[in-house]
Amino acid sequence: MDKIVHILGFAGSLRKQSYNKAILGAALEMVPEKATLEIFDLEGIPPFNQDLERQPPDKVKEFKSKIRAADAILIATPEYNYSIPGVLKNAIDWASRPYGDNAFDGKPVAIMGASIGTLGTARAQYDLRRSFVFLNLIPLNQPEVMVPLAQDKVDSNGRVTDEKTRKKIKELLQSLAAWTQRIKHGEEALATAKTSA
Ligand code: FNR
Repeated sequence: MDKIVHILGFAGSLRKQSYNKAILGAALEMVPEKATLEIFDLEGIPPFNQDLERQPPDKVKEFKSKIRAADAILIATPEYNYSIPGVLKNAIDWASRPYGDNAFDGKPVAIMGASIGTLGTARAQYDLRRSFVFLNLIPLNQPEVMVPLAQDKVDSNGRVTDEKTRKKIKELLQSLAAWTQRIKHGEEALATAKTSA
């Protein structure tokens, strides 16, 4: 596969002035040549109710179909109380259900995160990686994009002004596109091997 890599990005914050929405915005400005990036807003996804998992709300249906249509996923997570925000976990839970209908199954994924603290969402990111095991997402390990003291790196218009941060985000997108190509090539080679066996 050397086709265009379609990436779906979402931030685990509903806040209008969200720093995590801002780093996704920066990513939009730096999409590699052979990739696209679509941003999905989690606003409007209700609290998960397992009674409804087989008839999910329209917003959840839309979210799942966008995940399915994407070649790769990009998540921008805040850190809340040393973990990921409920808004993000809730959206992930909806998209993973019902059992056997996990929209994330087998997708490459990359994480970044911005916080006003000094660790830049490190703890939240490692928690998120743990969920990827059961979600069967295939995480990109490097680069790790943790943006500490985000209030000093994003201006009042929500633009990331810090050059080092912009460079890291660009590297992450390039690596995610290459990682996705690598996984697709592997899958194609496996399918060919199976048919010729
Ligand atoms: C926070 N914040 C925070 N920051 C951090 O670095 N580690 C943490 O554990 C927490 N915990 C936390 C809990 C709750 C409930 C809130 C509301 C906030 C601060 C957080 O980094 C800051 O609010 C960011 O601005 C959140 O990301 P967005 O909304 O700007 O994307």
